[in-house]
Parts: sequence; C-alpha cells; structure tokens
Amino acid sequence: MKVVAINGSTRSDGNTHAALEIVGLGLVARGKEHGEDIEYTIIDLAKKKLNPCRACYGCRDKNECIQNDDVNEIFKELHSADGIILGSPTYFSNVSSRMQMFIERIGIINKTNGELLAGKVGASVAVARRQGANVVYAALNYFFGIAQMPIASSTYWNIGLGKEKGEVKNDEEGVKTFENLGHNMADMLCKLRG
Ligand SMILES: Cc1cc2nc3c(=O)[nH]c(=O)nc-3n(C[C@H](O)[C@H](O)[C@H](O)COP(=O)(O)O)c2cc1C
Repeated sequence: MKVVAINGSTRSDGNTHAALEIVGLGLVARGKEHGEDIEYTIIDLAKKKLNPCRACYGCRDKNECIQNDDVNEIFKELHSADGIILGSPTYFSNVSSRMQMFIERIGIINKTNGELLAGKVGASVAVARRQGANVVYAALNYFFGIAQMPIASSTYWNIGLGKEKGEVKNDEEGVKTFENLGHNMADMLCKLRG
C-alpha cells in the first residue's frame, strides 16, 4: 500500500515536515502489525513548480491539467496512492498559499475527471506557532469532504505547535496526536483497502 503526504510549507525541513515524518512512522509501524508494507513518501511543494488554477477547465476528461508545471506529476502520484495526507503550516490563520493553490489545482482535475481520488483515505496535518491551526485543519478536511474520501482522525485535532524548525517535536501532545493519527490511518487503510 502507498501513502503520499504533501508538505505545503515554504520550509522543506520545518515543522510541517517533522509532523509528517511522525505520522509516517506511526503509519508504517501499524501497517507492519497488520502485515502490510506501507510505502510512505513526502512531497515538498516548496521544491515543485506550481502555478495558480486558470479556471479554464482544460483538464476536463483529460486526467491532467494543460499547464506545464509539476502538478500533473504529483496528481499521478496521488492517483496511484491508497492514502493522502495534506500538511500545512498556519499562515495568517489559514493554509499556506502554496497549499491553497495545490488544493485548487488537484481539486479541479479530480472533479472534472470522474472523482479519481474517491475512496482513498485522507488525513490532515497542521502546525502553528500559537493560533489558527484549527482553521487549517478544517480547510484541509474540506478537501477530503468534497472528494468522497474517508478521513482518518486522532485523539486530538491533528495539530502541533512550534515556531523554529523542529520545535514541533517538543510538543508532547502534538507528537502523540500525530503518532496516533498514523496508527488510525493504517487501521483504516487495512480495513478499507487491504
Ligand atoms: C507568513 C507566516 C504567517 C504565519 N502565521 C501564523 C499564524 O497565523 N498563527 C500561528 O500560530 N503561526 C503563524 N506562523 C508561524 C508558523 O505557522 C510556524 O512557524 C510553523 O511552525 C511553520 O511551519 P514550517 O516550519 O513547516 O514552515 C506564520 C509564519 C509565517 C512565515
């Protein structure tokens, strides 16, 4: 089985990446308990070429966008995955502009091509220094909610706190929440797609 996580941060090695790594460790470990090898990949949007949606609907019935950037390649990865995690830092009490652009681009490809992502398990990951991460958590889950994707949850909303790179690892409850999110996502994947 395969899970692809998207890091919407400007910092490829920041707290969003660290949080996604923690989720991945929990996911792979619980997968093994079920006898499943879960392949886990993190894609950093900061390293990708990504333009805004042009609202041209040129993607309709083509399974891809007409724009020549990295979105088609990433969409193919998502299409071949069993689970998708969207991770974003909190920027002014919302998702990063990169993540919003990404959601708009893949969302419209998905919608105009017969809902290619339906049935995959989704999970959201948000980090913040202090406030606004609930908005991010909700915004990411809205995507899964319109894509017919069941959403994995945890013992708390999937939020970690930290400002400087790596600080999220000191948020004990956040770390537990992310680990458990990985466990629950693996359970769901094995029940729904194993
Ligand atoms: C442009 C910008 C806006 C931010 N807005 C918020 C905010 O609204 N609330 C908050 O708690 N932290 C805010 N932060 C702090 C980041 O969410 C925090 O540093 C987070 O750990 C960054 O994740 P990263 O290391 O993956 O980039 C902001 C940071 C930046 C650069």
